[in-house]
Amino acid sequence: MKFFVDTAEIDAIAELNDLGMVDGVTTNPSLIKKSGRDIIEVTKEICNLVDGPVSAEVTATDAETMIAEGRKLVEIAENIAVKVPLTWDGLKACKTLTDDGHMVNVTLCFSANQALLAAKAGATFISPFIGRLDDINLDGMELIEDIRTIYDNYGFETQILAASIRTVNHVLDSARIGADVITAPPAVIKSMVNHPLTDKGLDAFLADIKAAEIKIL
Ligand code: E4P
Repeated sequence: MKFFVDTAEIDAIAELNDLGMVDGVTTNPSLIKKSGRDIIEVTKEICNLVDGPVSAEVTATDAETMIAEGRKLVEIAENIAVKVPLTWDGLKACKTLTDDGHMVNVTLCFSANQALLAAKAGATFISPFIGRLDDINLDGMELIEDIRTIYDNYGFETQILAASIRTVNHVLDSARIGADVITAPPAVIKSMVNHPLTDKGLDAFLADIKAAEIKIL
């Protein structure tokens, strides 16, 4: 499973990238706003840092302007994936941009039928939002499961990019189901390392190291 980092914060991306944990990056207008940076500038910096796909989202809602924005975004770097919303116009933009040979990430997916349409329109990635479904007491993981089944039934090559990940359990469940990619905030990825028994075990080993004055260097 590939790990994308869901942020526009350069330092956080660099830290994870140095550990080989970054297969790509996703941004959205809210993350760009949070970074306080110009979208073109910060996206270029991310693309220089990371080899894998970097999603940059269009701002328009009509297909024609989305396509024009997408064509400008892909000039930033070869690894740009143009992110378009899952609307009828977004699907039109997806079809045109993928026909042009560009990667497209169709975002704001909340139903399996939407995911089916995105695959038919040639999307490179579909981004079902787990956390936002959970927020309204629906089951985000069930959506990932449904899309996996449908894409496998018909051999669609669109990659399932599990998004709006809020917890380590979202990551684990996405891996169990077989999502192709997860995108998660740096804090969620880093917290996957935590386990109370690791801390407890290390404390015991450290106590014995001290008691027995064990030294290596
Ligand atoms: C990524 O592509 C999405 O924009 C992001 O995961 C949304 O996450 P949120 O629901 O926590 O804002």
